[in-house]
Amino acid sequence: MTARQIIIDTDPGQDDAVAILLALACPETLHVLGLTCVAGNVPLAQTTRNARMICELAGCPDLPVFAGCDRPLGRDLVTAEHVHGRSGLDGPDLPDPQIPVQDQNAVDFIIDTLRERPPGTVTLVPIGPLTNIATAFAKAPDIVARVQEIVLMGGAHTAHGNVTPAAEFNIHVDPEAAARVLASGVPLTMLPLDVTHKALVTPARNAAFRGIGSRVGRAVAALTGFFERYHPERHGADGAPLHDPCTICWLLRPDLFKARKVNVEIETQSELTMGMTVVDWWGVTGRPANATFVHDINAQAFFDLLTERLARL
Ligand code: RIB
Ligand code: CA
Repeated sequence: MTARQIIIDTDPGQDDAVAILLALACPETLHVLGLTCVAGNVPLAQTTRNARMICELAGCPDLPVFAGCDRPLGRDLVTAEHVHGRSGLDGPDLPDPQIPVQDQNAVDFIIDTLRERPPGTVTLVPIGPLTNIATAFAKAPDIVARVQEIVLMGGAHTAHGNVTPAAEFNIHVDPEAAARVLASGVPLTMLPLDVTHKALVTPARNAAFRGIGSRVGRAVAALTGFFERYHPERHGADGAPLHDPCTICWLLRPDLFKARKVNVEIETQSELTMGMTVVDWWGVTGRPANATFVHDINAQAFFDLLTERLARL
């Protein structure tokens, strides 16, 4: 079976880093064509720098890294240094990156890649705000029908918002972009807080990362250990949710999840609920399903897979 070709659109971010490492540890299943960076957890300059550091940590210095949009479509950027630290990748002590940022803009890389490869052969994996994806679709509408699938981390239904009472961070940062992507008609799988809040990095799971005994294992333990400090009042001693790697695990082992096809709309008018993902769980609106909404996970199997694959790097 040929590996699935993916572009990871990212705002690293400790959990983004683990997602990228997992993808790069599975070349037999996933062919990462490039990392396209977006402003989100921290400004674009930091997310792009962090992506380069992650490529070098993974031993993949030839993986191209592209810089994309430095602000949302129609509003000011909201970042999350209080969660991820000033660098966005606080925790491990990683060396300054040596690999370059590509000259081509991330949006143009997405457009050119989709135009150059056969329709239905490239999957987009956005794990930050959807600004780059929405901008590419607006700039080149012909690429929309060429996308194989979008597998994104974002949104929330019965899980509470994590940046406002109503909204999850990735959607809240750029709700207009999210609304355009959800309305695009591209086959879309959403991994929201409803499932990622069940993927908690417990002390035992963090110890398993450290127990890998490699530079990558120690770095991942430090990344998830830092990420945890923000969450104890929300998740207690159970640890921090490991959001973004759930997208990669879905691509590797969808059998570890439960999902439902539903209609999801994005609130873009009310400041009170801006960025809320309005999930029609019972189909009461009659609106067509536009998302495979993932709501449950076999968490231990996820962490066992993650730990086993990270040991390959
Ligand atoms: O709400 C969680 C999401 O916001 C994750 O992608 C995390 O990296 C932040 O971007
Ligand atoms: Ca992210």
